[in-house]
Amino acid sequence: MNPGLPIQKESDGRLVYRGQERPSLSIAGVAEQIVPVTLGQRSYDIILHPGLLATVGDRLSAFTTSPKIGIVTDRHVASRYLQGTLRSLCKAGYDPTPIILPPGERTKTLGTIAKILDALARHKFERQSLLLALGGGVIGDLTGFAAAIYQRGIPFVQVPTTLVAQVDSSVGGKTGVDHRLGKNLIGAFYQPRAVLIDPLTLRTLPRREWIAGLAEVIKYGIIADEEFFAFLEQEIPALLKLDEEPVIHAIKRSCEIKAQVVAADERESDRRRILNYGHTIGHALESLAGYRGLIHGEAVGIGLVQEADLACYMGLCGREVGERIRSLVQRAGLSEQVSQASFASLWGAMQHDKKVVGGRVIGVWPVRIGEVVIRPIEQQVCAAWFQCKHGRGSRPSSGRQPGKHPVRRKARARR
Ligand SMILES: NC(=O)c1ccc[n+]([C@@H]2O[C@H](COP(=O)([O-])OP(=O)(O)OC[C@H]3O[C@@H](n4cnc5c(N)ncnc54)[C@H](O)[C@@H]3O)[C@@H](O)[C@H]2O)c1
Ligand SMILES: [Zn+2]
Repeated sequence: MNPGLPIQKESDGRLVYRGQERPSLSIAGVAEQIVPVTLGQRSYDIILHPGLLATVGDRLSAFTTSPKIGIVTDRHVASRYLQGTLRSLCKAGYDPTPIILPPGERTKTLGTIAKILDALARHKFERQSLLLALGGGVIGDLTGFAAAIYQRGIPFVQVPTTLVAQVDSSVGGKTGVDHRLGKNLIGAFYQPRAVLIDPLTLRTLPRREWIAGLAEVIKYGIIADEEFFAFLEQEIPALLKLDEEPVIHAIKRSCEIKAQVVAADERESDRRRILNYGHTIGHALESLAGYRGLIHGEAVGIGLVQEADLACYMGLCGREVGERIRSLVQRAGLSEQVSQASFASLWGAMQHDKKVVGGRVIGVWPVRIGEVVIRPIEQQVCAAWFQCKHGRGSRPSSGRQPGKHPVRRKARARR
C-alpha cells in the first residue's frame, strides 16, 4: 500500500485511517453528503451516508459530555436496527438506554411523553445526556418534544429511518404530539444537534411507506426546483427500485430545499408555509378519512395534483403545469383522485386547518414547476371549482353546520 495514502494496512491486515480528516468514502463507496441547516446558534448538519448507522457512536461526542444516551425507537425499528446502534454506542464508550415504544401514530400522545420522561428520570438522565430518535416521524416528533421539556431542554439527534422522516420530519425542529381534538396540537420548536441519515435503512421500509414518502420528495421539486422535478421525472423508475444513487440524490436535494426554507423562516411566519403545498387538501382528506385508510404521504400526493388543478382553475398557472404534476404522481404509484363524496365535505374540512386566517384558507399555489405563491382562497372560488370538476351534487358544505364528517372531532391543527 502506498505510504503516502492516508489509509494504511496494519501488520494484522486491518485497514486504518491515518490522515488528518475523516475519509470521505463510505463502505458502499459513496461520498458522505453534508447539508448544513443555518440557524445561528441552533445550526446543525444533516449527514447522509450509506452504512452510517454503524458509526453513530463515533459521531456524538460533539453533542454531549455525558455517557448516558437514551435511544427512543419503536418495535418495528428496534427489531431491525437497535442491536447495531447499541453496538456502535457501546464501542464508542456510551451507556445507552433503549426506550422502545409501540409503532404508529397512536403512540404520538402526551401519555407516551410522560413514559419517556419517567424513563429518563429513573435512569438519572442529566442536562447533558442525549436522546437519539431512531425511527420514523412519529419517533422523531416524540423524542424531540421530550428532549425539549426534560430539564428544560437536553440535546437530541435525529436518526430517521423512513423516507418521510429523512426528507421532512427530522429537519426543521417541529416536535410534538397529537391531542384527541387535533393532530400535532401540542408541541415545541426545538432543533436537533444533528440529523444522521443512513439510506440503507430504507431497504426494509414497507413499500407503501416508501411510495407515500415520494409525495413529499415530489413536493420539493414543485415548490423550489424545476431541475430536481425533471430529475424525478427521469429517475422515477429507478427510485421505485430503490437504486442507491438516485435515492441519495433525492434525499439530499430534498433536505437542501427544506434546510433553505427553514433557515429563512424557522417558525413558519411566512416563507416556511410553502412546505405546506399539497397539504391543504391533503390534510383535509386525511381528516375526512379519520386518519385511517389514507396515510399522510398518500393524501399529500392527491393534494399535489388537486391543488395544482385549483391553481390552474384560478388562472395562476398553465394547464401543462398540472399535467406534469399529475403524470409524475401517477407514475410514482400514488393516487390523485378524490371521490365525489369527499369533494362535498372538503371545504368544511379545509376550514379546520391551522392555515385558516379569518375564515379564509391560506393556500400555496404553483405558478410554474419550481415556483409557488402563497394566497388565500375564497369559498366561492373553491365551490365553483368543485362544481366545474363534478357538476351538480358537489356543492361544498359551509364548514359550519354538518358535524357529520370526522373533522369536527379530529385534527384542528396540523403540519
Ligand atoms: N416534524 C415535522 O416537521 C413533521 C413533518 C412531516 C411529518 N411529521 C410527522 O411524522 C409522522 C409520520 O412519519 P412516518 O411516515 O415516518 O411514520 P412512522 O414514524 O409511523 O413510520 C411508519 C412505519 O414504518 C415503520 N418503520 C420506520 N422505519 C422503518 C424501517 N427502516 N424499516 C421498516 N419499518 C420502518 C414504523 O415502525 C411505522 O410502522 C406523523 O406523525 C407526522 O405528523 C412531522
Ligand atoms: Zn407532509
